[in-house]
Amino acid sequence: MRANLIANVALTDEIAKRRTFGIISHPDAGKTTLTEKLLLFGGAIQKAGAVKSSKITDHARSDFMEIEKQRGISVATSVMGFNYRGKKINLLDTPGHQDFAEDTYRTLTAVDSVIMVIDCVKGVEIQTEKLMEVCRRRDTPVLVFINKLDREGRDPYDLLDEIEGKLNIRVHPLSWPIGMGKRFKGVYSLYERALHLFEGSKLTLSEGYKIADIHNEELVSLIGDNEAAQLREDVAFIDGIYGALDEEAYRRGEVAPVFFGSAVNNFGVRELLDCFLDIAPPPIPRETESRLVHPEEKGFSGFVFKIHANMDPRHRNRIAFVRVCSGTFTRKKPYLHTRLNKEFKFANATAFMAQDKEVIDVAYPGDIVGLYDTGNLKIGDTLAERELGLYKGIPSFSPEIFKEVINLDAMKSKQLDKGLKQLMDEGVAQLFTYELGSRRVVGTVGALQFEVIKYRLEHEYGAKCNFAPQKIYKACWIESPDKKKLNAFVDSKYRHIARDKDGKLVFMAESKSWLQMVEENFPEINFHFISEF
Ligand code: G4P
Repeated sequence: MRANLIANVALTDEIAKRRTFGIISHPDAGKTTLTEKLLLFGGAIQKAGAVKSSKITDHARSDFMEIEKQRGISVATSVMGFNYRGKKINLLDTPGHQDFAEDTYRTLTAVDSVIMVIDCVKGVEIQTEKLMEVCRRRDTPVLVFINKLDREGRDPYDLLDEIEGKLNIRVHPLSWPIGMGKRFKGVYSLYERALHLFEGSKLTLSEGYKIADIHNEELVSLIGDNEAAQLREDVAFIDGIYGALDEEAYRRGEVAPVFFGSAVNNFGVRELLDCFLDIAPPPIPRETESRLVHPEEKGFSGFVFKIHANMDPRHRNRIAFVRVCSGTFTRKKPYLHTRLNKEFKFANATAFMAQDKEVIDVAYPGDIVGLYDTGNLKIGDTLAERELGLYKGIPSFSPEIFKEVINLDAMKSKQLDKGLKQLMDEGVAQLFTYELGSRRVVGTVGALQFEVIKYRLEHEYGAKCNFAPQKIYKACWIESPDKKKLNAFVDSKYRHIARDKDGKLVFMAESKSWLQMVEENFPEINFHFISEF
């Protein structure tokens, strides 16, 4: 009894300590730079430049082998754990390359909050909008960092308006810039009520200059006449409009606190991290098909959100990344693989601390464990101490590019089937199998994946295939409250009906206009660009 009580308290403490998040941005806004600065603060790395290796560089953008190599390196940085101010922070990396956007979307299902980086010159960009849509699906709390204040950027009020308009979320500035570009003097932290002066690449007042009242003459001597007047006006205006931050609204994903700074100059980063620790949510309850699971529940449960294959064909093991959702994960303990209804033990479990992988014995909610697997796990799988259904929330999005698989070696059909299945389990692409003639069509977000698939099928499975382009605009998951009408629809459009990896019905629409027409003609059928609705 007493031992149980102590164990429960320990679990609750561990949960309260965890902050699991991701940094998202349109490429080049400064995600890698900010990641690196946060890690420097956390003492997880010692020098700048250490994180760069996980980024897909410009010259590699069209070279898939180079990208795979870099993705290989990035396994080490996929999850960066570090301790800061008594908290255990798990930062989940998301690929910067647009072709791997689906990876990013899936990783976002494993975080409890995100920091979104926006370039002050470019404002809200297309990928920012897409990522925000994904966050909104789970009401993920978002903190915004407006970066590159050392450049001549857009007016801060315009930027806030644009965020509200394009990202459809209320903003709440928690810091305010004093000038920009060449005239950039620093930021006033509305959260800490402190002034941070900018002097090139170093922070002059690292802890913030606690200015008792910005109406004091002192401010003028620090930033100049005009700037002091402007700042006073801005602060009065912002205080009047926004008042105090509603932290609960932030945690519900309704309000995005906004910080300004310059990641490359390490400016505004500590304030961001400190506020993040104060307000970001610890692991929260998550839904399975059958019920809501609380992190404090004693029984371990978690789900697979990412699988990374070993590129070396001699070691065809894979690492499955499992997000712990409840209880304590213990190495070598048998857990139920919900989909297969079978127990598995994982002797080889790794944690991700800093940039090293290390074998761990226990992990808590919010942590990510890497499990070595020989092909039993796929993305979306749930592992649990006892039956609780599958965790929800790893949907597939309609791909953009579709190609039919053409087997080039009839003797190697089995190898091709196996290879395709395993690559799809890893989430490299999506496979749609037509009802008619069992034609198989692979769908991806970017063109690069076809190169990756071809190469890997040949080198890892000894199968050869080609890809024939298909005229398909979108894969639409279909459903209807009226089963008869759904069957009638499937019958009338059978040449365009396929099944996804889970056997769900998909309508392969050839063009936007055609899809619109079909939607009008079949009002009782619902068409979704996403597999969970
Ligand atoms: P990403 O991961 O979001 O794609 O962006 P990343 O951090 O790689 O940053 C993209 C570019 O923006 C980099 O320059 C980086 O140095 C620069 N950058 C990041 N933060 C700031 C900032 O606060 N101010 C300014 N002026 N630039 C910033 P690069 O030339 O592409 O790379 P590098 O040669 O500097 O590494």
